[in-house]
Amino acid sequence: MTSRSLDRNRDLVIASVYEREIRASLDSVWENVFDWEHLPWLHSQAFDSIELRDSGDWGWQADLGFPGGGRAELELVVDRPANHYVARTLDGAGSPGEIWTRLEPVESGRTRIRVEFCVLPLPEGDLDRIGTAYVALYTGLWDQDEEMMQVRERAFAGRGKSATSDCERLPAESSHADSDTVSNDLGAWTELAPRLPLLIEFGGHRFRLVELGGRPVAHSVECPHWLGPLAECPIDDGVVICPWHGYGFDVETGRSTQGRSLRLRPAPRVELDTQTGRVRIFRDPAGEKPAGV
Ligand code: FES
Ligand SMILES: [Fe+2]
Repeated sequence: MTSRSLDRNRDLVIASVYEREIRASLDSVWENVFDWEHLPWLHSQAFDSIELRDSGDWGWQADLGFPGGGRAELELVVDRPANHYVARTLDGAGSPGEIWTRLEPVESGRTRIRVEFCVLPLPEGDLDRIGTAYVALYTGLWDQDEEMMQVRERAFAGRGKSATSDCERLPAESSHADSDTVSNDLGAWTELAPRLPLLIEFGGHRFRLVELGGRPVAHSVECPHWLGPLAECPIDDGVVICPWHGYGFDVETGRSTQGRSLRLRPAPRVELDTQTGRVRIFRDPAGEKPAGV
């Protein structure tokens, strides 16, 4: 079932209205509106799964699963020139229902939103209860969206810049006469291991140094999909899962664990010398060792 219409369902009434300012640009907000894929990841408290049915310039349509087992068929239809859109529940939990959102850029990097939650008529007490629940839900969703948009905007703005204050300073680089690589000595493994994980900056990019199988490994902390933050993500069985859209990457090879063509930025090679017990980090990426090493 689909309507793709921007006509209001006249059988519905407004249960509540939610207004706020979002500290993100109008372009970022529109990008977020079309980003159906983040729902069960960034908003895992509200959505369990999503299966896209159709999408286009008009918006998107998908089947949603909710924690606890409910489901709904949702379509989101936009009117970009007019800066508004409707999320319409076509079937399942919350059907029939419409959530109308109006966007207004207020100043550089900020967007005002006005959201109307429309449901079938109910006795006043029930309508208030549903309206209050919608406002609470959307406050949390927009908080999470706002943070994602800000991190993404900062990541774009910071591209090409180096020296982040949260990174560990590495010892000065040194050339090794017996190698065409350039390396840093990171010290004794017995002293380094208890300090992991560590954020480091190398070659102008941020990486996380972790222990994997009793040895040090570095991986990029920027997701290659939408620049999602990987610095705090747990590593499970050698795989880091991005919290924004759930893309998984092997931290040693950087490869997608879901067969995607995306790959983590090549990380510097980190080696534990089992003879000396010292750790060195090399400019050449992991997995691309010079012959004979
Ligand atoms: S930013 Fe989309 S999965 Fe990482
Ligand atoms: Fe969202």
